[in-house]
Amino acid sequence: MGPSGAAGGGGRAARALRLLLLLVLALAAVEYLFGSILDASPLRTYLYTPVYNATHPTLRFGEKFAPSWAKRLSVTEPPYPEVKNITSRNDTIFASNITLVMTPDMTRQSADNSTSLLLSRILEGYRNQTTTESTDARKNETELPLCPDSLPPDLGPVPVNKTDMELDIVEKEYPEIQLGGRYAPPNCTARHRVAIIVPFRDRKQHLAIFLHHMHPFLMKQQIEYGIFIVEQEGNSEFNRAKLMNVGFVESQKLRAGGWQCFIFHDIDLLPLDLRNMYSCPRQPRHMSSSIDKLHFKLPYEDIFGGVSAMTQEQFKKVNGFSNKYWGWGGEDDDMSYRVRKVGFHIARYKMSIARYAMLDHKKSAPNPKRYQLLSQTSKVFQKDGLSTLQYQLVKVTLNHLHTHVLVNIDELS
Ligand code: BGC
Repeated sequence: MGPSGAAGGGGRAARALRLLLLLVLALAAVEYLFGSILDASPLRTYLYTPVYNATHPTLRFGEKFAPSWAKRLSVTEPPYPEVKNITSRNDTIFASNITLVMTPDMTRQSADNSTSLLLSRILEGYRNQTTTESTDARKNETELPLCPDSLPPDLGPVPVNKTDMELDIVEKEYPEIQLGGRYAPPNCTARHRVAIIVPFRDRKQHLAIFLHHMHPFLMKQQIEYGIFIVEQEGNSEFNRAKLMNVGFVESQKLRAGGWQCFIFHDIDLLPLDLRNMYSCPRQPRHMSSSIDKLHFKLPYEDIFGGVSAMTQEQFKKVNGFSNKYWGWGGEDDDMSYRVRKVGFHIARYKMSIARYAMLDHKKSAPNPKRYQLLSQTSKVFQKDGLSTLQYQLVKVTLNHLHTHVLVNIDELS
C-alpha cells in the first residue's frame, strides 16, 4: 500500500475515533439528563434485583428513634382528618406503644377501610412529626445507595439464649428498633423489605426470647423488616394458617408501598446461622430444614412448616394458606401442595446453614381431619384461602419490638 493509502487509513481511524467519542459523550448526556427515568426502567430493575424491585425507596422514621417519642403523639390532633372518623371505643396512646381498639362488630371489610388505613396514615404522620430532618434531607435519605448484595464473609453461626426474660428489659436493649418492631439499615437502602409473620397464642414466655434473638439477627442482615405477632382471640382450636393469612393482609397495610417478602415464622424456632438470609428468592423457600430437636435432619422432602418465605406474588398466586385447618398439623403440607400445584418448587439452604434451635413447649393435639382436608387441596385451593378470608380485627398495637395484631378468626355465621 502507498503513502496515500496509509493516509486514507489513518483518516478513517481518526473519524471512527471521533464518532466513538461523540457516542460516549451522548450516552453520558442521556444518563445525566434522564438518569432518574432510567433508574426506574424495567431493564435496570431486572438487572439489579433478583426477585423484586429493591430500588423502591426505603421509608424510615426519624434517624434516631427513641421509644419515648410516642409520648408526644396525640390522636386528638390528628395528622390526617381520617383519625377523627375512626369507629373506635378507645383510641389510646401509651408511653411506648399505640393501641387502636376496634368495635366488636367490625368486619374485615370495615376494618380494611378504616383502622388499617388509619394506622398507616398515623405512621406517616409520625414520620412527619417526629423527624428532625427537612423534606430535602429525607429525600436524600431515600436515595442512599443499595446495601451490598452479599453478606460480609465473616457472618456465620450465632448462639441462642433460651433463658426466660422479661419483655420490658429486652425492649431497652434495642433502642434502634422503631415502633412496631420495624427496622431499616441506616446507611443504605435495603434490598429486601420483609414482614415476619408470627402466629401466636399462649406463648408469652417465648415472645421475649424470640424478639431478643431475632432483632439483632435481622439487623445484621441489612434488610428492612417488621415483626408482626398475630394473636388468635377466643377458645377455638388454634388455626396457624388462617392467622398467617391475616398477618399477610394486615402487615401489608402498615407499610407505605407494602412488603415484598413474607416470612411465616413459628415463635419457638430461632435461626442459628446468619447466612440463612431472611429474604425471598425466586422460588418459595423452606427455611427451617435443620432443627436441633429433629436431630438436624429434614423429616420429609416436601415439608414446608416451621419457617418459610414467599414473595407477595407467590403468596397471592397460591391463594395464601387454607383457612380450614383447626388444631395441629397439615396446614403447612397443604401450602406445600399449593406451591407445587402452581408450578413452583421448594428452595432450601444447605443443612449446615438452615439450622434452628427449638424452644420447649407442650405438643398440641393433632387435627384428626387433616388428612381428609389434604386430600382435597389440589381441587379446592383456589376457593379456600386469601380469596375467602374473613375475620374480625380486634386490636392492633404498635409496641416497641413488635406489632401485635389481635384477631377473632372464628367462622362467621
Ligand atoms: C404435619 C405437619 C408438620 C410435620 C412436622 C406433619 O405430619 O402434617 O404439619 O409440620 O408433620 O412436624
